[in-house]
Amino acid sequence: MNTKILNKRRSSAKIINYIICAMSEHVWFAHANVKVAVCGASGGIGQPLSLLLKGSPHVTELSLYDIVHTPGVAADLSHIETAAAVKGYNGPEQLKDALKGAEIVIIPAGVPRKPGMTRDDLFNTNASIVRDLAKACAEVCPKALIGIISNPVNSTVPIASEVLQKAGVYDPNRIFGVSTLDVVRANTFIAEAKNLDPTKVNVPVVGGHSGVTIIPLISQAKPSVEFSKDKLKALTERIQATGTEVVKAKAGAGSATLSMAYAGARFTFALCRALKGEPNIIECAYVRSNITEAKYFSTPLLIGPSGIQKNLGLGKLSDFESELLAAAIPELKKNIQKGEDFVNK
Ligand SMILES: NC(=O)c1ccc[n+]([C@@H]2O[C@H](COP(=O)([O-])OP(=O)(O)OC[C@H]3O[C@@H](n4cnc5c(N)ncnc54)[C@H](O)[C@@H]3O)[C@@H](O)[C@H]2O)c1
Ligand SMILES: *[C@@H]1O[C@H](CO)[C@@H](O)[C@H](O)[C@H]1NC(C)=O
Ligand SMILES: *[C@@H]1O[C@H](CO)[C@@H](O)[C@H](O)[C@H]1NC(C)=O
Ligand SMILES: *[C@@H]1O[C@H](CO)[C@@H](O)[C@H](O)[C@H]1NC(C)=O
Repeated sequence: MNTKILNKRRSSAKIINYIICAMSEHVWFAHANVKVAVCGASGGIGQPLSLLLKGSPHVTELSLYDIVHTPGVAADLSHIETAAAVKGYNGPEQLKDALKGAEIVIIPAGVPRKPGMTRDDLFNTNASIVRDLAKACAEVCPKALIGIISNPVNSTVPIASEVLQKAGVYDPNRIFGVSTLDVVRANTFIAEAKNLDPTKVNVPVVGGHSGVTIIPLISQAKPSVEFSKDKLKALTERIQATGTEVVKAKAGAGSATLSMAYAGARFTFALCRALKGEPNIIECAYVRSNITEAKYFSTPLLIGPSGIQKNLGLGKLSDFESELLAAAIPELKKNIQKGEDFVNK
């Protein structure tokens, strides 16, 4: 073909490409800057998470929201010599300002159990907090990618989803229950057991985010690893109960905060990189799903600038993992219903 025609074709392809980019909401270069809002920024998770985010070149603006202490946390973090501009917002009257322009919202807000609180009270407290934060997101930053850390994740994700749906701005590809800590723990324990470099191990963890619903797919670990049946069972049970291990070790001083902050930051950076147009961003998260009978379910996801690009599904399960899945589904369905009922009551 004549080079003149070829060049012409190339340049018209370029122009078309440019127009497509300009028309799409998610032009990659529009995301050279990423504003992240952390809701619950003064807490046990919120503070170290905000520290890690402030330390990263992925974040250009960091908005710290809580109902207490954010002026102090923000002043403190703002003196760190990194580019992210930090601002604190304190109390519900400042919530909307905190969320304005946020492309990513991470929610580690909650109220710990107080004496006399029943299980239902405990559920209702965090559920209301997540509901109200989701309402504000629906109004102020409906296109943001939202990562929910607040427990019970198995119900708070359905709660936020129902709220956004009622507001008419629900996009199931943009709401994530952060289950990264389960993956981080699985990677660490498998690496320990096989004497591998933990940074090179990747174990997908699927299902829900508590107890028997946490299903590490050790048969799909990379690099691939072999265990006896007993060892496999012990490792799986440890991964399912690691939260309790930390609560016991902290002896009344709370649950996992530092490892959760690490996991939350890892997940947030994945979202930032996806927003900037980096390809092949894959993370497990608990999302709206039609992979199983449970309406929300965690699996590996290919994440792009508009959130989930592709749900990568379960892959091939071992017999042991299939049994774990069968045990998890009825439990999960109950909890999802509880979250939906909470919003609809
Ligand atoms: N997803 C996970 O793997 C995982 C792991 C560990 C903990 N968690 C959950 O993360 C949440 C936070 O845990 P933590 O240890 O940091 O708790 P924490 O009590 O130390 O911190 C919670 C923070 O939320 C703030 N808060 C309360 N109400 C708020 C509201 N309406 N708006 C904004 N902020 C509000 C509190 O002031 C506090 O600063 C809990 O729900 C916990 O169960 C999740
Ligand atoms: C609600 O969040 C608090 C932390 O603020 C946590 O201690 C508590 O366990 C959470 N409640 C539930 C039901 O998970
Ligand atoms: C959902 O989470 C809550 C609190 O973390 C827990 O009590 C409940 O057992 C969980 N359900 C499932 C199915 O994981
Ligand atoms: C499952 O979900 C995906 C993504 O949300 C969607 O593209 C697909 O059509 C759904 N499949 C069914 C059977 O509903």
